Amino acid sequence: MILQFDFNMSEWKYKWWQKTTVYQIYPRSFKDSTGNGIGDLQGIISKLDYLEELGVETIWFSPFFDSPQQDHGYDVRDFRGIAPEYGTLKDFNQLLKEMHDRNMKMVLDFVLNHTSIDHPWFIESASSRDNPKRNWYIWRDGKKSGGKKPPNNWTTMTGGCAWLYYENTDQWVYFHFLPSMIDLNYRNSEVKEEMFNTMRFWLDKGVDGFRLDILHAIYEDEQLTNDKFSWTIIPSDKKVDTLFHKHKYDLNLPETFDFALELREVMDEYEPERFLVGEVCGSIEEIKKYYGPNNNGLHMCFLFEFVSTPFDSKKYISLISRIEKALPFPFTPTFVYGNHDIDRYISLLKNNFLKAKILATMQLTLRGVPFIYYGEEIGMPNVRFKLKTSEDPIGRKFSWFPMPQLSRLIGFSLTRDRCRTPMQWNNEKNAGFSSNIEIEPWLKVSDTFEKINVEKEQKNPASLLNCYKRLLSVRKENIALQEGELQLIKHEKLEKNYISYIRRYKAQKIFIYLNFTKKELLIQTPIEKPELLFSTLSNRKALDTEAYNGNIKLTPLEGIIFNKK
Ligand code: GLC
Repeated sequence: MILQFDFNMSEWKYKWWQKTTVYQIYPRSFKDSTGNGIGDLQGIISKLDYLEELGVETIWFSPFFDSPQQDHGYDVRDFRGIAPEYGTLKDFNQLLKEMHDRNMKMVLDFVLNHTSIDHPWFIESASSRDNPKRNWYIWRDGKKSGGKKPPNNWTTMTGGCAWLYYENTDQWVYFHFLPSMIDLNYRNSEVKEEMFNTMRFWLDKGVDGFRLDILHAIYEDEQLTNDKFSWTIIPSDKKVDTLFHKHKYDLNLPETFDFALELREVMDEYEPERFLVGEVCGSIEEIKKYYGPNNNGLHMCFLFEFVSTPFDSKKYISLISRIEKALPFPFTPTFVYGNHDIDRYISLLKNNFLKAKILATMQLTLRGVPFIYYGEEIGMPNVRFKLKTSEDPIGRKFSWFPMPQLSRLIGFSLTRDRCRTPMQWNNEKNAGFSSNIEIEPWLKVSDTFEKINVEKEQKNPASLLNCYKRLLSVRKENIALQEGELQLIKHEKLEKNYISYIRRYKAQKIFIYLNFTKKELLIQTPIEKPELLFSTLSNRKALDTEAYNGNIKLTPLEGIIFNKK
């Protein structure tokens, strides 16, 4: 067992955002107050007490800006306005105030990379070659005129040519995601200034941070160098290659890493501190570049590797070690198991709630910021949808795909509807999602709602919801779990069985032991008289080491947190 620390912890100064806990709300699916089957801001306001009681400190909202909703809000039509189906600016102000009154922080989802094709800027830009907004987007001549050959071979993240032809000006415009969302041109300083000012618009209102949507796609090679072939078909969290393309000239450009530093400067104009979390892709080493050479770029980035790591202690140990090595303090790692683009982790665990509790314990006790996706705390599963009738444009795009089941084999689903279903509040019709029980919600509710819902789990001390709640509260009560250095305890022979680590803050040491097996484990106590702070078993009251010859007994798939009495 290694118990050496080479840091001078007393000099560590933690910022609020380095130790916060984040909960992601997908506004369309959280709570519908108007009875139209679509979630909204007043619905969210009505559930703030629930979130406060759960104990999450920061809430990130997927976009609720005005949008034609082709990609459910990620296609923004007005960066300063609220989509009418979600509410008004007045509702927004109320939401922010009510959150701040509860000491919660608000993070908005900011889509810098592109606008909706219906955005007035784009409509102007597309109207003629000499329109003042022409250069706000990336327009180029084709290799052959008349729309016969695009400017180069670039493809989008979702597959297919990345250029859209406009006959009126005989030019092509570039988009990285879907043709309904066109990339802004950040080589034009007017665009940059406008978008920075829009961030200031929200920061002036008191917003505490931004999640930055596909930030790695901000810049493209100016020369439009052709992309090279790659053997990779399926996108992964380790590299950006996808669908036989390398994406060397359209993703993770040096200019984009520099852009992260500029964004940080905007944030640094504000007191108290605000934060940025980037949705960026690539290996951890590549992602680190967004944090800036002196940690002066994005405050943090999503690390998606946890999502694709199977339930295997050895693999997690190796991932945690890599993260700690690549992003030592003061860099801030993040811990993500799901979001609105990814299959729900409880389904990947085949609905094994004991395993979910182990993962939740790990997520909330590692050094860094955990991101909890709405519904994760109650174990909401994926729901099946037909690709053809999918609400998600990606699902419809792939509706030709012969076997939807294959998508699970390749590691991701083709429709993101699966993880976006209405929040399950109770066992009434529509799971209490909508104030109107007769309405069909925009996505059907999971048929698990009678078994899996907030109301039911609130009453059950052994529920996943109460496990999250207890974890969030233990984290809040113990500074070592927020600010402590992380030290993995090495026990090579047993790595296949459990993970253990220490969080240490000054003289305080907190121990975390996670049993990944379906067997009981007897583990030698690292300290005398350990005091139990938390167990995934709600009825465990103490660690009775005397009864086990000074050992700690872990029941199958049990996770515990303890310190010295
Ligand atoms: C991000 C969002 C996703 C959206 C896409 C385009 O990946 O998470 O939901 O569709 O960007 O904005």
